[in-house]
Amino acid sequence: MGQVYIDQLSQYDGQQVTIKGWVYNRRSSGKIQFLLVRDGTGIVQAVMVKKEVSPEIFALTRELTQESSIIVMGVVRSDERAPGGYELSVNDLRLVQMAEEYPITPKEHGIEFLMDHRHLWLRSRRQHAILRIRSEIIKAIRDFFDDRGFVMVDAPLLTPAACEGTTTLFETDYFDEKAFLAQSGQLYMEAAAMAFGRVYCFGPTFRAEKSKTRRHLMEFWMVEPEVAYADHEDNMRLQENFVSYVVQRVLEKHKPELEFLERDISRLENVVPPFPRITYDEAIRRLQQAGVDIQWGADFGGGDETILAEQFDRPLFVEKYPAEVKAFYMKPDPERPEVVLCDDLLAPEGYGEIIGGSQRIDDLDLLKQRMQEHELPEDVYAWYMDLRRYGSVPHSGFGLGLERTVAWICGLPHIRETIPFPRLINRLYP
Ligand code: 4AD
Ligand code: MG
Repeated sequence: MGQVYIDQLSQYDGQQVTIKGWVYNRRSSGKIQFLLVRDGTGIVQAVMVKKEVSPEIFALTRELTQESSIIVMGVVRSDERAPGGYELSVNDLRLVQMAEEYPITPKEHGIEFLMDHRHLWLRSRRQHAILRIRSEIIKAIRDFFDDRGFVMVDAPLLTPAACEGTTTLFETDYFDEKAFLAQSGQLYMEAAAMAFGRVYCFGPTFRAEKSKTRRHLMEFWMVEPEVAYADHEDNMRLQENFVSYVVQRVLEKHKPELEFLERDISRLENVVPPFPRITYDEAIRRLQQAGVDIQWGADFGGGDETILAEQFDRPLFVEKYPAEVKAFYMKPDPERPEVVLCDDLLAPEGYGEIIGGSQRIDDLDLLKQRMQEHELPEDVYAWYMDLRRYGSVPHSGFGLGLERTVAWICGLPHIRETIPFPRLINRLYP
């Protein structure tokens, strides 16, 4: 049998197979050596008995260092005591490369050391569990929208204008012009929604966040659906159905990884619609009751979000924030123009805002007025204003941050482990 992956071993009980991988660990007791071999899909114990292999191979195996690359051949045997239920009785082994002394050992390392060795740290079981769940979440996100008739439309990453305020822009030269790395694909999705009705983009976005927190990355992935003819209510309904779909998918497919991460699964099982909703006004009252010194008109900090979210057992919508703390494109509430038809979805257990969404301004004059108040240059937004000139309709959308969602679902204390190579305020390497 040619190469077989470890997660498929159950199909090969009793058969001779080849596994191509790396040495995860090794111990020997005289005439027998135990190798833990990993191949990216799992880890298997490979048992080598001295009299069953050539003396050269037995001697070579004794020298194998952690993370050396090897090809092992042997017979699959079911064994209840083995992790995964199978082990390999080795009859041949080939060394591909003898690894130098590996910097990451089973002992505890400091976080900065591990982050410096992120390119190697990815091989650990914990990172495996997290990044496999991330991969599933990405697939669930795409399936949710694809199955509902949304068209995926890619937004540009180099843009001439800001979407989410000018303070977090990364600027770069674009020949003789200035360009910014995209903070959001939203404005382009509004154009796409007028063309296709229901659309989404899903890609990296960039923000020069000058604060060091456990919730902020400089480069993060965001999925941004936009729906023509949808209002604020439709928007929140879509969000709760979407978020619960993603959580249920991870529960269905990745319980073992969640258990490895010691995630409290019952908290995730709660994530079914409808989600509770409170207004910004009520959120202020609740914070004041909890002893927080905050007045109407202020935006929430991470600590405020945690206090609010902890009062509920599932994600919490906070809607209708004051216009002054939100982006220029949000539609004012016709009944109370000082607040906008927006919502933030706060994850439970202190994970903070995972979604920001809103109904958009569809009236040209109001949009112009808002852009002036925000001192935005009209020339680079001319195309965006066109959308209010040619068949403007009510429309809404939102953005869900992938990494915050992964942190929450996996129960991680910090966002840095949710993305393969995080970009943090003090880190651009590796
Ligand atoms: O609330 P935000 O800024 O909303 C937008 O960008 C809208 N244009 C989205 C839209 O309506 N199409 O960001 C949306 C989400 C946040 O709720 C958060 O999950 C995530 O993006 N996010 C970050 N994640 C990690 N690091 C950062 N620096 C983030 N900034 C925002
Ligand atoms: Mg937001």
